[in-house]
Amino acid sequence: MEIDILMERDLPFINEIINMPQVRRFFNFIPPLAFQQTKKWFKEVIEKRRKKQGECFIVRIDDKTVGWCYGFLNVKIERKFFSILKPYLKKINRKHLGYLAAIVVNPNYSGKGIGSILLDRLHKYLKSIGAKAIWLGVNSDNISAKKFYEKFEYKLIGCVKDFKTRGDDIKVNQDIYLKYFS
Ligand SMILES: CC(C)(COP(=O)(O)OP(=O)(O)OC[C@H]1O[C@@H](n2cnc3c(N)ncnc32)[C@H](O)[C@@H]1OP(=O)(O)O)[C@@H](O)C(=O)NCCC(=O)NCCS
Repeated sequence: MEIDILMERDLPFINEIINMPQVRRFFNFIPPLAFQQTKKWFKEVIEKRRKKQGECFIVRIDDKTVGWCYGFLNVKIERKFFSILKPYLKKINRKHLGYLAAIVVNPNYSGKGIGSILLDRLHKYLKSIGAKAIWLGVNSDNISAKKFYEKFEYKLIGCVKDFKTRGDDIKVNQDIYLKYFS
């Protein structure tokens, strides 16, 4: 097993995993991703990397990408999320707030500690670029992911009801979690 930063050669694996039905059900607020969109996302990651504002870590097993974890310093926060976060950020400048944008492990490899390795690596990276805390949103019915975050001492601070990011009728409730770095 190797942990690395995201490279172009990881993209086909990532595109395949994100569209697996077991994974899609937790990302039902975004449409299935065409490979072109995954490539576009890669450019965003590269840009964050260049500015030292974020990183995407990946795990490969036998040269096959089996999971990734993407996070960055999150200056712009949508209003409905920010209103939940605000009371908790009194001592933290928004510039020092990290955001966990995605963590996904191929379901055939879940429960083997890969997600933990990835999240731990991302935490260390975000701390190294100045993050004092990290937040995320997770579908309220994603029980296994919530258990996972709670193990890492993320605290549930609120819920955004009827969250909607795409043009059709799909709405989800998103639980908001926050973790302060020590
Ligand atoms: C959430 C996810 C990244 C966890 O990755 P993973 O490699 O399976 O996690 P780990 O093996 O490191 O598990 C660490 C801890 O998380 C919790 N956990 C993980 N999977 C769990 C499950 N299915 N049910 C309950 N708890 C679970 C456990 O506390 C576990 O600790 P333990 O093994 O000591 O009991 C993975 O399940 C996943 O990709 N899910 C689908 C995508 C997703 O929902 N991403 C988050 C969207 S916000």
